[in-house]
Amino acid sequence: MSEIDTAPIGIIGGTALADLAALEAGETHTDIDTPWGVPSGPLVCGHLAGRSVCFVMRHGPGHKLAPHRINYRANIQALADAGCKQVIAIAAVGGITEPMRSGRIVIPDQIIDYSWGRAHSFYDAPEGGLLDHIDFTEPYDATLSKALVSAATELNLDPAAGGVHGVTQGPRLETAAEIDRMARDGCDVVGMTGMPEAALAREAGLDYACCAVVVNKAAGRSGGTAIHAEIEATLAQGMADIERLLVAVLLQLG
Ligand code: HPA
Repeated sequence: MSEIDTAPIGIIGGTALADLAALEAGETHTDIDTPWGVPSGPLVCGHLAGRSVCFVMRHGPGHKLAPHRINYRANIQALADAGCKQVIAIAAVGGITEPMRSGRIVIPDQIIDYSWGRAHSFYDAPEGGLLDHIDFTEPYDATLSKALVSAATELNLDPAAGGVHGVTQGPRLETAAEIDRMARDGCDVVGMTGMPEAALAREAGLDYACCAVVVNKAAGRSGGTAIHAEIEATLAQGMADIERLLVAVLLQLG
């Protein structure tokens, strides 16, 4: 068995996965500190589907941290320090293109980053120092992404395999014109937390994939349905699907 098969898998929960009820918790680490500060919340390490996992809630307990306030570096560092080699990041997103209907699971394969002002690199010493320009041509790990698609297909969830994940600054939702521009850019879904998380995982040498669930049609595309009402109507089923999918993918990864 290789190191990657025995290491815990990191799971970053988001709006679409507030907690992980099926996780048999072993230890909850509440006192983690990293050179980048403290993570969003405790690191809960235990077992899910027989596999060792470490779980952190991106927005912290009670969903209090806004996307631009999340300490992405501390979250990724904490997972790396816990021995994780692979990370599955859960996200709630808005659907831009037609196939990205509400409730659909999407495993994106590309990113366009519209966020700004976030601490987005580990290579950040003011006096200079260690520096690497990571290759980010393919931002998500192909093997993990494939495993997510195959597990979701097995569960008849009809996942969208691939798609461009546009990442906005938030916390406000977008204007209709911003979504039109993102569509012209080629974005399929829009979220607020996909970056710099994915790039930091690459810098830290972690295999990282995103498992997103569409919880609403993006601004200006809803045909009149209020976005918040749509999110509320979709989220519970989305979370249940994601949790089933995590169990299935962990069984598959072994
Ligand atoms: N826009 C940005 N982020 C989101 C959305 C959205 O419509 N829905 C869920 N996260």
